[in-house]
Amino acid sequence: MIYLRREVMEMIECQNVSVMYNNEVEALKKVSLTIMGPTITGIIGPNGSGKSTLLKAILGMTRSTGKISINGVSSKKMLKKIAYVAQKNLIDLSFPITVRECVALGTLPNLGLFKSVRKEDWRRVERALEVIGLRKEQERQIGALSGGQFQRVLIARCLVQDADYLFLDEPFVGIDMVSENIIIKILKDLKKRGKTILIVHHDLSKVEDYFDQLVMLNNKIIAVGATSNVFNMQNLKRAYGENIFIDRSE
Ligand SMILES: Nc1ncnc2c1ncn2[C@@H]1O[C@H](COP(=O)(O)OP(=O)(O)OP(=O)(O)O)[C@@H](O)[C@H]1O
Ligand SMILES: [Mg+2]
Repeated sequence: MIYLRREVMEMIECQNVSVMYNNEVEALKKVSLTIMGPTITGIIGPNGSGKSTLLKAILGMTRSTGKISINGVSSKKMLKKIAYVAQKNLIDLSFPITVRECVALGTLPNLGLFKSVRKEDWRRVERALEVIGLRKEQERQIGALSGGQFQRVLIARCLVQDADYLFLDEPFVGIDMVSENIIIKILKDLKKRGKTILIVHHDLSKVEDYFDQLVMLNNKIIAVGATSNVFNMQNLKRAYGENIFIDRSE
């Protein structure tokens, strides 16, 4: 008997996905795209162009029409495999938990409600804190962290979830270049380990360094594909308007 090794190609597919809020705002109009993984894909477009909505539609957090699948399976059945950091995090920073406990919350999707964190999960928490460079701060209250440190805690929480897909909505907002560089390095390592990562991003100067693929949105798809094919002035003007200016100087 011959066994054929099946190469599993990660793939997120949207076909004619539309989202309408309150019967008046058409946030996404017939969006069709295929994202192959493992890759880091950037989702870019002006404010209000539907970037966050696209992630929420794939996560089933907002009602959409059309078809969304991951590796051929309805995305709603794949939710456990997706880790998500929302654009404005709803975690109450005055809530009295430590960094270590906050990261451990990432293990809960695998545990189910009312189960406590297992010993091996605590080991995963320790490793994630090490990777993200916050081991020293692990007993601190989350409210006593800087914005960048807290963003790293949220990424660590994704790491312990051990998901195959990471969806990050503007993870670099309000953090300095040092934290941003630490996070992007971690994400590139995760890609090498087979993860498929979607990042909503607004700093156009870094797009070519960070992303293998791009989804350019303006409520409809402007362009999608390899960054080198998509990231050009013609597409940028269609997404952002004629007055776009990109500062690539450092
Ligand atoms: N819950 C909601 N109810 C009604 N309208 C909404 C809701 N969420 C988003 N919208 C509208 O849908 C459109 C797309 O919003 P979305 O948040 O997806 O944009 P975005 O590209 O992520 O913008 P930003 O860069 O400002 O984060 C906007 O016009 C927004 O006002
Ligand atoms: Mg958004």
